[in-house]
Amino acid sequence: MTTRKTFRAFRTEETENGFISSVKEIELRDLNENEVLIKAEYSSLNYKDALSASGNKGVTRNYPHTAGIDVAGTIESSNSEKLNTGEKVIATSYDLGMNTDGGFAEYVIVPSDWVVKLPKNLSTKEAMAYGTAGLTAAICIQKITRTIKPEDGKIAISGATGGVGSLAISILSKLNYKLVAISGKESEYEYLHKLGANEILSRQEIEAFANKPLLKPLFIGAVDAVGGSILENIIKSTDANGVVSCCGNAASFNLSLTVFPFILRGVSLMGVDSQNYPMQERQKAWDLLAYEWKINQIADFCDEIKLEDLNEKIKLMLDGKLKRRVIVKL
Ligand SMILES: NC(=O)c1ccc[n+]([C@@H]2O[C@H](COP(=O)([O-])OP(=O)(O)OC[C@H]3O[C@@H](n4cnc5c(N)ncnc54)[C@H](OP(=O)(O)O)[C@@H]3O)[C@@H](O)[C@H]2O)c1
Repeated sequence: MTTRKTFRAFRTEETENGFISSVKEIELRDLNENEVLIKAEYSSLNYKDALSASGNKGVTRNYPHTAGIDVAGTIESSNSEKLNTGEKVIATSYDLGMNTDGGFAEYVIVPSDWVVKLPKNLSTKEAMAYGTAGLTAAICIQKITRTIKPEDGKIAISGATGGVGSLAISILSKLNYKLVAISGKESEYEYLHKLGANEILSRQEIEAFANKPLLKPLFIGAVDAVGGSILENIIKSTDANGVVSCCGNAASFNLSLTVFPFILRGVSLMGVDSQNYPMQERQKAWDLLAYEWKINQIADFCDEIKLEDLNEKIKLMLDGKLKRRVIVKL
């Protein structure tokens, strides 16, 4: 009998006492056709990971499971003609970390179609400092900047201290846009200004806007990660021909509006789904993050942890108390 190679992974198991996650030694399986084995160097913590690692069956149906919707590392073996051993890569999205074992592990096996080559100007650590949140922010920004220029007006960013929000602020500020951060954390206003926010609106302020179909125009664009009444009030306060990108539901998945912002002001509401974003466009977004839009010292904005520290950070994330992005060194 041959002994299989083993590796460490943050495994979530369903037990009589509920879902329990811990670092376990597990066996490496053989590669199927078109799959690659990535020796993981970094992963990052996203809200979906916190849900998966705490037993949310809307995200992950079957346990035991390894969460982690993104990973960056080096191809250790390849059953695909497109990717060679030794290449540095990023894998995010599709089913990674949901019902396919994910990035919270020393080794990750994925179909080669899920893999993007790491741009030369990015390290694996920087790639995961962006992670899925950075990719999502980049897609939102691509949609806005196609038609909206810095001189056209202000861009609103909701969920501003979160992964998507904080990275969107850093990138748009580098591109010279004037930014209004919308945040529920008064203690973090100074940090938001440091990232590049010019003004800050508290969650309470925007939620208290008048309940009318259209409001005084304040913004020409927005990156919205929260949905619900905050997104409603952003759309109602967007000026003629503005572009609002919608990527998240941290507050609510509901949206109650009239058609007036769209038919009287020509506002565009752009949906963003990083999970199924086309591969060619995905590579372009990573190239933008690596070159033109690169945030200096991006890894300094993150806390670097080990697999053993994940439980503590996941709890903080689920309690809405996480203040910085978390990257996992493998
Ligand atoms: N569509 C996609 O492809 C895609 C990809 C990645 C993420 N997402 C989604 O985007 C959203 C943000 O992701 P993330 O990684 O940035 O998450 P995150 O780091 O947890 O940040 C979410 C932020 O939203 C704000 N928030 C939290 N609860 C809220 C509430 N009840 N009402 C209003 N604001 C609230 C908080 O910011 P403040 O305290 O500063 O307000 C929080 O930091 C999530 O819904 C996630 O599932 C979607």
